[in-house]
Amino acid sequence: MSELGHTPVLMGEVLSALAPKVGEVAVDCTAGHGGHAAAVALRLGPTGTMVLLDMDGGNLEIARARVEAVSDGPRVLAFHESFAGVASLMDRLELRADVVLADLGFASSQVDDASRGLSFSRDGPLDMRLNPAAPVTAAMLVNTSGEAELERVIREFGEERLSWAIARKIVAARREGPIQTTGRLAEVVRSAFPAGARHMMGIDPATRTFQALRIAVNDELGHLDALLDAIERGARVAATGAAGSGRGGWLAVGARVGVITFHSLEDRPVKQRLSAGVRDGLLAFIGEQPACASDAEVLANPRSRSAKLRAVVVGSL
Ligand SMILES: C[S@@+](CC[C@H](N)C(=O)[O-])C[C@H]1O[C@@H](n2cnc3c(N)ncnc32)[C@H](O)[C@@H]1O
Repeated sequence: MSELGHTPVLMGEVLSALAPKVGEVAVDCTAGHGGHAAAVALRLGPTGTMVLLDMDGGNLEIARARVEAVSDGPRVLAFHESFAGVASLMDRLELRADVVLADLGFASSQVDDASRGLSFSRDGPLDMRLNPAAPVTAAMLVNTSGEAELERVIREFGEERLSWAIARKIVAARREGPIQTTGRLAEVVRSAFPAGARHMMGIDPATRTFQALRIAVNDELGHLDALLDAIERGARVAATGAAGSGRGGWLAVGARVGVITFHSLEDRPVKQRLSAGVRDGLLAFIGEQPACASDAEVLANPRSRSAKLRAVVVGSL
Protein backbone atom coordinates (compact mmCIF):
# COMPACT_ATOMS: atom_id res chain seq x y z
CA MET A 1 0.00 0.00 0.00
CA SER A 2 1.23 3.53 -0.81
CA GLU A 3 2.19 5.95 1.95
CA LEU A 4 -1.19 7.64 1.54
CA GLY A 5 -3.23 4.45 1.34
CA HIS A 6 -6.56 3.34 2.75
CA THR A 7 -7.35 -0.08 4.21
CA PRO A 8 -11.02 -1.01 3.70
CA VAL A 9 -12.86 -1.98 6.89
CA LEU A 10 -15.16 -4.96 7.49
CA MET A 11 -14.34 -6.45 4.08
CA GLY A 12 -15.51 -10.00 4.87
CA GLU A 13 -18.67 -8.70 6.53
CA VAL A 14 -19.49 -6.45 3.53
CA LEU A 15 -19.08 -9.28 1.02
CA SER A 16 -21.07 -11.71 3.10
CA ALA A 17 -23.96 -9.25 3.76
CA LEU A 18 -24.14 -7.77 0.26
CA ALA A 19 -23.41 -11.07 -1.55
CA PRO A 20 -22.65 -9.61 -5.01
CA LYS A 21 -23.40 -12.02 -7.86
CA VAL A 22 -22.34 -12.43 -11.48
CA GLY A 23 -24.13 -10.00 -13.80
CA GLU A 24 -25.48 -7.72 -11.06
CA VAL A 25 -25.37 -3.92 -10.85
CA ALA A 26 -23.46 -2.59 -7.83
CA VAL A 27 -23.11 1.00 -6.64
CA ASP A 28 -20.23 2.04 -4.41
CA CYS A 29 -21.43 5.41 -3.09
CA THR A 30 -18.04 6.16 -1.49
CA ALA A 31 -15.48 4.65 -3.84
CA GLY A 32 -12.45 5.93 -1.89
CA HIS A 33 -9.43 3.90 -2.94
CA GLY A 34 -11.62 1.20 -4.45
CA GLY A 35 -10.81 -1.54 -1.94
CA HIS A 36 -14.41 -2.62 -1.38
CA ALA A 37 -15.34 -1.86 -4.99
CA ALA A 38 -12.58 -4.07 -6.44
CA ALA A 39 -13.63 -6.99 -4.24
CA VAL A 40 -17.28 -6.53 -5.26
CA ALA A 41 -16.26 -6.13 -8.93
CA LEU A 42 -14.47 -9.51 -8.86
CA ARG A 43 -17.81 -11.13 -8.05
CA LEU A 44 -19.84 -9.23 -10.67
CA GLY A 45 -17.78 -10.56 -13.58
CA PRO A 46 -17.76 -9.13 -17.13
CA THR A 47 -21.56 -9.09 -17.43
CA GLY A 48 -21.95 -6.92 -14.32
CA THR A 49 -21.86 -3.15 -13.86
CA MET A 50 -20.05 -1.22 -11.17
CA VAL A 51 -21.09 2.39 -10.54
CA LEU A 52 -18.58 4.43 -8.52
CA LEU A 53 -19.21 7.75 -6.81
CA ASP A 54 -16.94 9.96 -4.76
CA MET A 55 -16.96 13.66 -3.88
CA ASP A 56 -13.17 13.59 -4.02
CA GLY A 57 -12.14 13.46 -7.68
CA GLY A 58 -8.64 12.21 -6.81
CA ASN A 59 -9.99 9.25 -4.87
CA LEU A 60 -12.54 8.50 -7.60
CA GLU A 61 -9.75 8.14 -10.17
CA ILE A 62 -7.77 5.85 -7.86
CA ALA A 63 -10.87 3.67 -7.39
CA ARG A 64 -11.70 3.68 -11.09
CA ALA A 65 -8.19 2.52 -12.04
CA ARG A 66 -8.26 -0.19 -9.37
CA VAL A 67 -11.65 -1.57 -10.42
CA GLU A 68 -10.83 -1.37 -14.13
CA ALA A 69 -7.73 -3.45 -13.41
CA VAL A 70 -9.84 -6.35 -12.08
CA SER A 71 -9.46 -9.12 -14.63
CA ASP A 72 -12.76 -10.23 -16.17
CA GLY A 73 -14.27 -7.36 -14.21
CA PRO A 74 -17.52 -5.50 -14.86
CA ARG A 75 -18.28 -2.39 -16.88
CA VAL A 76 -17.17 0.58 -14.74
CA LEU A 77 -19.02 3.91 -14.62
CA ALA A 78 -17.45 6.58 -12.40
CA PHE A 79 -19.00 9.87 -11.26
CA HIS A 80 -17.52 12.77 -9.30
CA GLU A 81 -20.75 13.35 -7.41
CA SER A 82 -22.21 13.08 -3.94
CA PHE A 83 -24.22 10.02 -3.04
CA ALA A 84 -27.00 12.46 -2.13
CA GLY A 85 -27.97 12.35 -5.83
CA VAL A 86 -27.59 8.60 -6.32
CA ALA A 87 -31.27 7.97 -7.18
CA SER A 88 -31.41 10.54 -9.97
CA LEU A 89 -28.01 9.38 -11.27
CA MET A 90 -29.28 5.80 -11.51
CA ASP A 91 -32.46 7.06 -13.21
CA ARG A 92 -30.32 8.92 -15.77
CA LEU A 93 -28.29 5.76 -16.36
CA GLU A 94 -31.51 3.70 -16.52
CA LEU A 95 -29.96 1.25 -14.08
CA ARG A 96 -31.35 -0.53 -11.05
CA ALA A 97 -28.98 -1.47 -8.24
CA ASP A 98 -28.70 -4.98 -6.81
CA VAL A 99 -25.93 -4.01 -4.39
CA VAL A 100 -25.32 -0.63 -2.70
CA LEU A 101 -22.52 0.26 -0.31
CA ALA A 102 -21.81 3.53 1.52
CA ASP A 103 -18.66 3.54 3.68
CA LEU A 104 -19.10 6.94 5.29
CA GLY A 105 -16.64 9.65 6.22
CA PHE A 106 -13.15 10.06 4.88
CA ALA A 107 -10.32 7.84 3.67
CA SER A 108 -7.13 7.57 5.74
CA SER A 109 -5.23 9.06 2.80
CA GLN A 110 -7.31 12.25 3.04
CA VAL A 111 -6.43 12.73 6.71
CA ASP A 112 -2.79 11.76 6.21
CA ASP A 113 -2.39 14.38 3.47
CA ALA A 114 -1.64 17.55 5.48
CA SER A 115 -2.63 19.76 2.54
CA ARG A 116 -6.29 18.67 2.96
CA GLY A 117 -6.39 20.27 6.40
CA LEU A 118 -8.26 17.41 8.09
CA SER A 119 -5.65 16.49 10.67
CA PHE A 120 -4.87 18.15 13.98
CA SER A 121 -1.59 16.27 14.20
CA ARG A 122 -0.19 17.47 10.85
CA ASP A 123 0.01 21.18 10.22
CA GLY A 124 -1.64 22.32 7.01
CA PRO A 125 -4.08 24.86 5.59
CA LEU A 126 -7.40 24.90 7.46
CA ASP A 127 -9.42 23.44 4.58
CA MET A 128 -11.27 20.16 5.41
CA ARG A 129 -13.21 19.93 2.13
CA LEU A 130 -13.62 16.36 0.88
CA ASN A 131 -14.52 17.91 -2.47
CA PRO A 132 -11.79 20.49 -3.10
CA ALA A 133 -14.19 22.37 -5.42
CA ALA A 134 -16.77 22.96 -2.67
CA PRO A 135 -17.23 26.66 -1.80
CA VAL A 136 -16.73 26.78 1.99
CA THR A 137 -13.49 25.87 3.80
CA ALA A 138 -13.04 25.32 7.52
CA ALA A 139 -10.98 28.53 7.66
CA MET A 140 -13.97 30.50 6.31
CA LEU A 141 -16.26 28.92 8.88
CA VAL A 142 -13.86 29.41 11.81
CA ASN A 143 -13.00 33.02 10.94
CA THR A 144 -16.44 34.36 9.98
CA SER A 145 -19.05 32.53 12.11
CA GLY A 146 -20.41 34.23 15.22
CA GLU A 147 -19.51 32.76 18.61
CA ALA A 148 -23.00 31.27 19.12
CA GLU A 149 -22.90 29.57 15.72
CA LEU A 150 -19.41 28.15 16.39
CA GLU A 151 -20.58 26.89 19.76
CA ARG A 152 -23.60 25.17 18.15
CA VAL A 153 -21.51 23.48 15.45
CA ILE A 154 -18.93 22.21 17.96
CA ARG A 155 -21.64 20.98 20.36
CA GLU A 156 -23.96 19.39 17.79
CA PHE A 157 -21.43 17.86 15.39
CA GLY A 158 -18.65 17.21 17.89
CA GLU A 159 -20.77 16.31 20.94
CA GLU A 160 -18.21 18.41 22.81
CA ARG A 161 -19.09 19.48 26.35
CA LEU A 162 -16.64 22.39 26.33
CA SER A 163 -18.07 23.82 23.10
CA TRP A 164 -18.77 27.19 24.74
CA ALA A 165 -15.18 27.55 26.02
CA ILE A 166 -13.71 26.50 22.67
CA ALA A 167 -15.93 28.94 20.72
CA ARG A 168 -14.89 31.73 23.08
CA LYS A 169 -11.17 30.91 22.64
CA ILE A 170 -11.53 30.82 18.85
CA VAL A 171 -13.23 34.22 18.74
CA ALA A 172 -10.57 35.70 21.05
CA ALA A 173 -7.71 34.16 19.04
CA ARG A 174 -8.95 35.38 15.68
CA ARG A 175 -8.96 38.98 16.94
CA GLU A 176 -5.17 38.69 16.72
CA GLY A 177 -5.42 37.54 13.11
CA PRO A 178 -7.30 34.89 11.11
CA ILE A 179 -6.77 31.23 12.06
CA GLN A 180 -5.39 29.77 8.83
CA THR A 181 -3.78 26.45 9.78
CA THR A 182 -4.80 23.22 11.47
CA GLY A 183 -1.87 23.57 13.87
CA ARG A 184 -3.02 26.99 15.05
CA LEU A 185 -6.63 25.86 15.44
CA ALA A 186 -5.60 22.74 17.38
CA GLU A 187 -3.49 24.92 19.70
CA VAL A 188 -6.41 27.30 20.33
CA VAL A 189 -8.84 24.41 20.98
CA ARG A 190 -6.42 22.68 23.37
CA SER A 191 -6.04 25.94 25.32
CA ALA A 192 -9.77 25.77 26.21
CA PHE A 193 -9.16 22.65 28.33
CA PRO A 194 -7.76 22.81 31.87
CA ALA A 195 -4.12 21.67 31.72
CA GLY A 196 -4.72 18.67 34.01
CA ALA A 197 -7.66 17.40 31.95
CA ARG A 198 -5.73 17.41 28.65
CA HIS A 199 -3.54 14.48 29.65
CA MET A 200 -6.38 12.42 31.11
CA MET A 201 -8.71 12.49 28.12
CA GLY A 202 -7.30 9.56 26.15
CA ILE A 203 -7.83 11.49 22.91
CA ASP A 204 -6.40 14.77 21.69
CA PRO A 205 -8.65 17.58 23.01
CA ALA A 206 -8.95 18.86 19.42
CA THR A 207 -10.49 15.60 18.14
CA ARG A 208 -14.17 16.48 18.59
CA THR A 209 -13.85 20.05 17.34
CA PHE A 210 -12.09 18.86 14.16
CA GLN A 211 -14.82 16.24 13.63
CA ALA A 212 -17.49 18.92 14.08
CA LEU A 213 -15.93 21.32 11.59
CA ARG A 214 -15.37 18.56 9.02
CA ILE A 215 -19.03 17.50 9.30
CA ALA A 216 -20.19 21.11 8.93
CA VAL A 217 -17.86 22.02 6.04
CA ASN A 218 -18.95 18.96 4.05
CA ASP A 219 -22.60 18.97 5.18
CA GLU A 220 -22.05 15.29 5.91
CA LEU A 221 -25.31 14.74 7.80
CA GLY A 222 -27.32 16.51 5.08
CA HIS A 223 -25.85 14.24 2.39
CA LEU A 224 -26.45 11.17 4.57
CA ASP A 225 -30.06 12.21 5.10
CA ALA A 226 -30.53 12.53 1.33
CA LEU A 227 -29.05 9.04 0.83
CA LEU A 228 -31.39 7.58 3.45
CA ASP A 229 -34.33 9.33 1.74
CA ALA A 230 -33.25 7.80 -1.57
CA ILE A 231 -33.06 4.33 -0.02
CA GLU A 232 -36.51 4.70 1.49
CA ARG A 233 -38.06 6.01 -1.73
CA GLY A 234 -36.28 3.35 -3.80
CA ALA A 235 -37.54 0.60 -1.52
CA ARG A 236 -41.07 2.03 -1.66
CA VAL A 237 -41.05 2.10 -5.46
CA ALA A 238 -39.60 -1.44 -5.54
CA ALA A 239 -42.43 -2.62 -3.28
CA THR A 240 -45.05 -0.93 -5.49
CA GLY A 241 -43.43 -2.35 -8.62
CA ALA A 242 -43.44 -5.80 -7.05
CA ALA A 243 -47.16 -5.37 -6.45
CA GLY A 244 -47.63 -4.96 -10.20
CA SER A 245 -47.63 -1.22 -10.95
CA GLY A 246 -44.75 -1.75 -13.39
CA ARG A 247 -42.98 1.50 -12.36
CA GLY A 248 -39.20 1.48 -12.13
CA GLY A 249 -36.96 2.75 -9.36
CA TRP A 250 -33.26 2.78 -8.61
CA LEU A 251 -33.31 -0.25 -6.27
CA ALA A 252 -34.13 -3.77 -7.45
CA VAL A 253 -36.42 -5.93 -5.36
CA GLY A 254 -33.99 -8.04 -3.36
CA ALA A 255 -31.23 -5.39 -3.52
CA ARG A 256 -28.77 -5.53 -0.61
CA VAL A 257 -27.83 -2.14 0.86
CA GLY A 258 -25.04 -1.66 3.41
CA VAL A 259 -23.97 1.47 5.28
CA ILE A 260 -20.77 1.63 7.33
CA THR A 261 -20.71 4.33 10.02
CA PHE A 262 -17.88 5.50 12.29
CA HIS A 263 -19.59 7.55 15.00
CA SER A 264 -22.96 7.93 16.66
CA LEU A 265 -24.01 11.04 14.72
CA GLU A 266 -23.89 8.94 11.55
CA ASP A 267 -25.06 5.69 13.07
CA ARG A 268 -28.17 7.08 14.79
CA PRO A 269 -29.96 8.26 11.62
CA VAL A 270 -28.91 5.14 9.71
CA LYS A 271 -30.30 2.87 12.43
CA GLN A 272 -33.51 4.92 12.79
CA ARG A 273 -34.27 5.25 9.09
CA LEU A 274 -33.51 1.62 8.21
CA SER A 275 -35.56 0.43 11.20
CA ALA A 276 -38.48 2.58 10.00
CA GLY A 277 -38.21 0.91 6.57
CA VAL A 278 -38.26 -2.49 8.26
CA ARG A 279 -41.36 -1.52 10.30
CA ASP A 280 -43.08 -0.35 7.10
CA GLY A 281 -42.35 -3.74 5.50
CA LEU A 282 -40.09 -2.18 2.82
CA LEU A 283 -36.77 -3.54 4.09
CA ALA A 284 -35.49 -6.46 6.16
CA PHE A 285 -32.30 -6.40 8.22
CA ILE A 286 -29.52 -8.75 7.17
CA GLY A 287 -28.21 -10.05 10.50
CA GLU A 288 -29.75 -9.34 13.87
CA GLN A 289 -27.01 -6.91 14.95
CA PRO A 290 -24.77 -4.53 13.03
CA ALA A 291 -21.42 -6.08 12.10
CA CYS A 292 -18.35 -4.76 13.92
CA ALA A 293 -14.65 -5.38 13.43
CA SER A 294 -13.04 -8.45 15.00
CA ASP A 295 -10.22 -8.00 17.53
CA ALA A 296 -7.76 -9.04 14.82
CA GLU A 297 -9.04 -6.36 12.43
CA VAL A 298 -8.90 -3.66 15.12
CA LEU A 299 -5.32 -4.67 15.88
CA ALA A 300 -4.33 -4.52 12.22
CA ASN A 301 -6.35 -1.37 11.43
CA PRO A 302 -7.26 0.73 14.50
CA ARG A 303 -9.58 2.88 12.37
CA SER A 304 -11.96 -0.11 12.17
CA ARG A 305 -12.56 0.05 15.94
CA SER A 306 -15.64 2.26 15.62
CA ALA A 307 -16.94 0.89 12.29
CA LYS A 308 -20.47 -0.55 12.19
CA LEU A 309 -22.07 -2.11 9.14
CA ARG A 310 -25.87 -2.05 8.98
CA ALA A 311 -27.25 -3.96 6.03
CA VAL A 312 -30.76 -4.46 4.70
CA VAL A 313 -32.43 -6.22 1.83
CA VAL A 314 -35.10 -4.40 -0.20
CA GLY A 315 -38.35 -6.33 0.22
CA SER A 316 -38.20 -9.32 2.52
CA LEU A 317 -35.45 -11.87 3.15
C1 LIG B 1 -14.10 5.63 4.07
S1 LIG B 1 -13.74 6.22 2.48
C2 LIG B 1 -14.24 4.90 1.46
C3 LIG B 1 -13.21 3.86 1.29
C4 LIG B 1 -13.57 2.76 0.30
N1 LIG B 1 -14.68 1.97 0.76
C5 LIG B 1 -12.38 1.88 0.00
O1 LIG B 1 -12.50 0.65 0.11
O2 LIG B 1 -11.32 2.41 -0.36
C6 LIG B 1 -15.00 7.39 2.24
C7 LIG B 1 -14.97 8.06 0.87
O3 LIG B 1 -16.24 8.66 0.71
C8 LIG B 1 -16.10 9.91 0.08
N2 LIG B 1 -17.29 10.67 0.44
C9 LIG B 1 -17.61 11.25 1.61
N3 LIG B 1 -18.82 11.82 1.55
C10 LIG B 1 -19.30 11.57 0.30
C11 LIG B 1 -20.52 11.88 -0.39
N4 LIG B 1 -21.49 12.59 0.20
N5 LIG B 1 -20.68 11.44 -1.65
C12 LIG B 1 -19.70 10.73 -2.27
N6 LIG B 1 -18.51 10.42 -1.68
C13 LIG B 1 -18.32 10.83 -0.41
C14 LIG B 1 -14.79 10.45 0.62
O4 LIG B 1 -14.25 11.41 -0.26
C15 LIG B 1 -13.95 9.17 0.71
O5 LIG B 1 -13.22 8.97 -0.47
